[in-house]
Amino acid sequence: MLKCCRQVFLPHLRLLSTQTPSPNLQASTIEIGNHVFQKDDWSNVTPKILSYIKSEKHLQKHHPLSIIRKRIVEYFYNTYKNNRGTPLFSVYDQVSPVVSVHQNFDNLLIPAGHPSRAKSDCYYINKHYLLRAHTTAHQIEMIKSGLDNYIIVGEVYRRDEIDSTHYPVFHQLDAVRLIGKEKLFGNFLDLEIFENDFKSNPQKIQTIISNSKCIDQSKQPCHTLEAVKLTEHELKSVLVGLTQHLFGDNIEYRWVDTCFPFTQPSWELEIYHKGDWMEVLGCGIMRNEILLNSGVSNSIGFAFGLGLERLAMILFDIPDIRLFWSNDSGFLTQFNEEDNRPNKYKAISTFPQCSNDLSFWLPEGVEIDNFSPNDFYDIARGIGGDMIEQITLVDKFKHPKTGKSSLCFRIVYRHMEKTLTQAEVNETHGKIAKVVSESFNVVIR
Ligand code: PHE
Repeated sequence: MLKCCRQVFLPHLRLLSTQTPSPNLQASTIEIGNHVFQKDDWSNVTPKILSYIKSEKHLQKHHPLSIIRKRIVEYFYNTYKNNRGTPLFSVYDQVSPVVSVHQNFDNLLIPAGHPSRAKSDCYYINKHYLLRAHTTAHQIEMIKSGLDNYIIVGEVYRRDEIDSTHYPVFHQLDAVRLIGKEKLFGNFLDLEIFENDFKSNPQKIQTIISNSKCIDQSKQPCHTLEAVKLTEHELKSVLVGLTQHLFGDNIEYRWVDTCFPFTQPSWELEIYHKGDWMEVLGCGIMRNEILLNSGVSNSIGFAFGLGLERLAMILFDIPDIRLFWSNDSGFLTQFNEEDNRPNKYKAISTFPQCSNDLSFWLPEGVEIDNFSPNDFYDIARGIGGDMIEQITLVDKFKHPKTGKSSLCFRIVYRHMEKTLTQAEVNETHGKIAKVVSESFNVVIR
């Protein structure tokens, strides 16, 4: 059964906005980077929302969103290579989120008056520009610039409630692959991508497509069935492969027919997770009008888009989308992009952190490399126990005149069940200092 064609975005990301706009009413312009935009009655972007631009969580080292991004890109680099071993896909991860209404909607054949265009659902800068609601918005410009295979990653903005799975800013990764006749059919020279009557009269077939409301899931009239089936097979195999690369070979998945204005046919991939089916991505065969409008008339294309937060929440067991914006080192230090197996998130305490440094001189003649930080950690843990959340070596140096070496450790105290008082922290910190100075014969600075 086909779903009704109202939907543009994946359902789990659909908007349930109750937020009221709170624009800076005084100013008549909005400045973003070097650009000044004249405000009008469509402007509803707030200074708080604008402050997320360039936050680039998907590029922050060891951030779970960056780890997911890297894994997906690495999968595409390995899966698609030319005969010299060079990856076919190029990656764009710093494209400005400011797009025109044309880019976000018209270029993608999203009809005027479509609910996804509503002011209540998007962050408009003015009636012509908005903060992209999906990374799909860049399709035409990317293809026009000559790209056949690309991945774009960045943050997208949708007016939404803030709860454990919704946040007005989140990250998407979109990809496009265009396939020409030789690539698709190899030596079968009699096979064609396009139907004969489309070749003779492309205008006619285009009109049929744009006038039909809820479109045929089997194929676009311009494409031959064999071209669609081969492309569908490649698209689905690659995306199942990606899902297995991320979640393991045993992951249960299923394909569900859906409808996007910019692809036909369209599908969602769902995986079985903790007793529920969850959509992880939307995809489909690109509408041929988009390719024609990008200057491509001899290829068939597929496209997909996915949300990085949702994948990271599943992969790392992260319970709340707000954690991705946390600067709390208790969260950030849990993930490491060099680790091959994802470590599961461990709940961080909601009580405040208290950080104290401990510096000391090593005994004369003892070099920094002869001192093992692990010994220090063990002593500190033995005294502080679960009051200690993290310890890091923050500084080491050798005094140029005395030749003595100094180390500085930062201990972050935080209890899981209560707010620690400064006095409690000081007492434990003092004990650690005493035992360390006795055990290692060091002099506390
Ligand atoms: N843009 C869609 C979304 O926001 C995802 C998508 C991208 C679907 C490309 C099909 C093709 O959910």
